[in-house]
Amino acid sequence: MRRGSILRMVAIGIVAGVVTALVAVLVPWLPTSASEEMDRIEFVYWFVTVISIAIFALVTAVLVYMVVKFRAAPDDDSDGPPIHGHTGLEIAWTAVPAVLVTAIAIVSAIALARNGDAGTNPLRVHVVAQQFAWKFEYPGSGVTSGRLVLPVGRSAELELDAVDVIHSFWVPEFGQKADAVPGMQTRLVITPTRLGTFPVICTELCGLGHATMRSEVEVLSQEDFDAWLAEQKQASGGGGGASVFTANGCGACHAFKPAGSTAQVGPSLDAVAQDAQAAGAPVAEFVRESIVDPDKYVKPGYAKGVMPTTFAELPKDQLDALVEYVVGGKAS
Ligand code: CUA
Repeated sequence: MRRGSILRMVAIGIVAGVVTALVAVLVPWLPTSASEEMDRIEFVYWFVTVISIAIFALVTAVLVYMVVKFRAAPDDDSDGPPIHGHTGLEIAWTAVPAVLVTAIAIVSAIALARNGDAGTNPLRVHVVAQQFAWKFEYPGSGVTSGRLVLPVGRSAELELDAVDVIHSFWVPEFGQKADAVPGMQTRLVITPTRLGTFPVICTELCGLGHATMRSEVEVLSQEDFDAWLAEQKQASGGGGGASVFTANGCGACHAFKPAGSTAQVGPSLDAVAQDAQAAGAPVAEFVRESIVDPDKYVKPGYAKGVMPTTFAELPKDQLDALVEYVVGGKAS
């Protein structure tokens, strides 16, 4: 092969490589990482991306050069030369991809294994998913919260459960997701590296309210986290209606001014008095029945079977407190 041909191919390859590298670097494909696990996933992505750019540049260079150089003249209808195989070339294009794919598999396996390792002293959080809310329980402290709070720099081991159907826990800035499956416990390890508030999103279509099944995770310093946990412990001691409302994620579907929620999946709870009148029942009785047996009376304009029936299992004291809270709007 002449030197001029090789130089031209190298030039095309450099142009192709630089353009794709710019697309990879300049476009913000992924959110900024906020966990060690996401850092490892990003490393795997970059490892694969660099290999892909190199191969793309090589193929583009040869292809473009060949198309231009060996283009048949418009009036040339003759057959091409009878070329048959090239053992050396075939060995090369089998061996090189085999080595690359093996390398990618090894790097991925190491990243996955390390991402699943919670270390010796993880913070354990029990995550309960249900239509259409998240509940986070901190074992040992009795604290239950509608939003996830984690200390920075310490591994957290989330144990996921679902009450009704399959949901999926995802925080984009943390990288990984994990399904929450009824009757089965799944786990996810997160080691936050950045302070801040990030969205918690359900990524498994789980019903009419799927799109509203969101919460937040707040990453705090260890001291702030300890203070938050102590504060929650005190607040949950009373088992007031407001904390039952928050812990069960009622605000994910219902607007309710005292709780500051504005969701519109289900009827607004600011209008329970009028709804009770329409249903022909005393308001407290109506609210209790709507929680325990939601399909008995469904407000016109809303569908049956949307409100989960799982709240019938709430302990009686919590149910009483919740009814009182919704009826009176008292933050008792
Ligand atoms: Cu839960 Cu989608």
